[in-house]
Amino acid sequence: MSSSMDCLSSKDNKHETTPPPNRAPWWTSETVAVVTGANRGIGHALAARLAEEGLTVVLTARDEARGEAAAAALRARGLRSVRFRRLDVTDPASVAAFAAWVRDELGGVDILVNNAAVSFNEIDTNSVEHAETVLRTNFYGAKMLTEALLPLFRRSAATSRILNISSQLGLLNKVRDPALRRMLLDEASLRERDIERMASRFLAQVADGTWRGQGWPEVWTDYAVSKLALNAYSRLLAARLAGPGRGGGVSVNCFCPGFTRTDMTRGWGKRTADEAGRVAAGLALLPPEQLPTGKFFKWSTPHVYSKL
Ligand SMILES: NC(=O)c1ccc[n+]([C@@H]2O[C@H](COP(=O)([O-])OP(=O)(O)OC[C@H]3O[C@@H](n4cnc5c(N)ncnc54)[C@H](OP(=O)(O)O)[C@@H]3O)[C@@H](O)[C@H]2O)c1
Repeated sequence: MSSSMDCLSSKDNKHETTPPPNRAPWWTSETVAVVTGANRGIGHALAARLAEEGLTVVLTARDEARGEAAAAALRARGLRSVRFRRLDVTDPASVAAFAAWVRDELGGVDILVNNAAVSFNEIDTNSVEHAETVLRTNFYGAKMLTEALLPLFRRSAATSRILNISSQLGLLNKVRDPALRRMLLDEASLRERDIERMASRFLAQVADGTWRGQGWPEVWTDYAVSKLALNAYSRLLAARLAGPGRGGGVSVNCFCPGFTRTDMTRGWGKRTADEAGRVAAGLALLPPEQLPTGKFFKWSTPHVYSKL
């Protein structure tokens, strides 16, 4: 299991993204970064790292007390630019209230990191008992928040970016169903409604107990399908936002941190949340001339989803 959860094979152990050159950063203390699910784990480490770099960081969490405590802990470390706001990515009212607050209080957003996610499996189990919650959080939640915040991006191609924390468990090479693979690979005709239909089909099979042997990813299947959907949506969104027009100029990439020691893995993993958060922050802060769109970063190496 650990090797299948890990993103960093030895052949990938190279950095194709060049570290930022030693020069003034493109961001300022006015640059606003929103991180979801940042009260613990990788999201917390990432929020801390962005605050250390001097950005205004909105640390969000679904639980008021846990979020306040996490933000206070960072402020106690001298990271005064950290602000807390409650946000449950599965709750449309919470998402709408959050977007209104970002608009009214901060005037916009520059970086969105969709990090919040759930998995209910132990390392070596594969139950789909909570599949609906998993899909609703990891895919629909990230999508709902993204669409709510899109009008609030400041629209500078240099600074507007979305980083979706995903997983290689949801890559195309994990899909055994040839028709599904074909659909997801056909970048010219794939539509958002196809991705939503795929998610609904999976949930319907879970409900009637027929999901096994249907060609879905075999490890942490509900979680993998949620990330498969997130990856496909990210690719479409990157294409949608690549040109001029509404939302144009916002880059969209995914990042797999690899097998990381957090609550999600019950403390198992090859690296710490701080190590993963540091790499994620580096990607979120890539210099404009190095910032791709529509890529899947396995650790710090960018790939095209359909080649994986
Ligand atoms: N750890 C790994 O090995 C690994 C590998 C690949 C990818 N990832 C991805 O990395 C990201 C972070 O994972 P992690 O390992 O740091 O997990 P984690 O420690 O379990 O943290 C998950 C975070 O998401 C929050 N969350 C869950 N449901 C939410 C909701 N409805 N609204 C808002 N926040 C919600 C949790 O809040 P509560 O505290 O309230 O529950 C928590 O802050 C996830 O996207 C995960 O899929 C992790």
